[in-house]
Amino acid sequence: MKKMKIVKTINEVREIIKDWKKQGLSIGFVPTMGYLHEGHQSLIHAAGENDKVVVSIFVNPIQFGPNEDFASYPRDIDRDTEKCREAGADLIFAPEASEMYEPDFCTFVDMNGPTDELCGKSRPGHFRGVCTVVSKLFNIVTPDKAYFGQKDAQQLAVIRIMTRDLSIGTEIVGCPIIREEDGLAKSSRNTYLNPNERKAALVISRSLNEGRKIIESGEIDLNKVIVKVKSLIEKEPLAKIDYVKAVNADSIKPIDKADGRILVAAAVYIGKTRLIDNFIIERNAADDSNNA
Ligand code: PAF
Repeated sequence: MKKMKIVKTINEVREIIKDWKKQGLSIGFVPTMGYLHEGHQSLIHAAGENDKVVVSIFVNPIQFGPNEDFASYPRDIDRDTEKCREAGADLIFAPEASEMYEPDFCTFVDMNGPTDELCGKSRPGHFRGVCTVVSKLFNIVTPDKAYFGQKDAQQLAVIRIMTRDLSIGTEIVGCPIIREEDGLAKSSRNTYLNPNERKAALVISRSLNEGRKIIESGEIDLNKVIVKVKSLIEKEPLAKIDYVKAVNADSIKPIDKADGRILVAAAVYIGKTRLIDNFIIERNAADDSNNA
């Protein structure tokens, strides 16, 4: 088994990366907040196309709102270390908050537009925190490629736009959603669910699947799709919808008509736990009208 290192300081990461770069090795990077599951491990596997794989484990305080779950977010560095080892990581960067943020930290990376909808709308300041920490992590690790899951589809689009806008030389690789056998999207927050809530949570993926089928069967009007998905979710008494919305998957601009790369995304509270899920589907309205 290969040797994996765990470091806590930016200087240690920089020393190791400098050495790898001197040897001409390519670097794949998987940023995480820990409590790793098969979804994260699939990102680490994908990053294995590089010579070296770095995983960061950092519950980033500045991407949580005041009434969100920063304090209770699950943390277990020993378990995470094992998951990283299993998946083939070479280096874990697990800094303390004080290593990432000086007491007088005052520089942020923010974005207008793509963060106005979906989670950006429900969680003001969230993407400012994500963009800031990911920029910092990119500056520390200087990866050739970085890997993000499609479960956070808006985050993936936002990071792609940010790296383009700030001319960051890292290629962003999107990876498919990993699901439990019954369809629930894997998430560190699934651990908050009690057995009844766990069953109820299935309503999200099932309802989105119905939405996908409606688009596949030729429905152009996305508002009708959203109304149907919402009505299915609302049948579950433990579910409370935050949003169900259709947007362009790349720009995150709201769309009404099924054309281009369509992202249908949902955020739903199951009890107190807020879960997200989505699907992306490509449609060409011109083809549809030619076939009509
Ligand atoms: O997706 C996550 O786990 C986080 O938002 C990220 C990208 C690690 C930034 O803290």
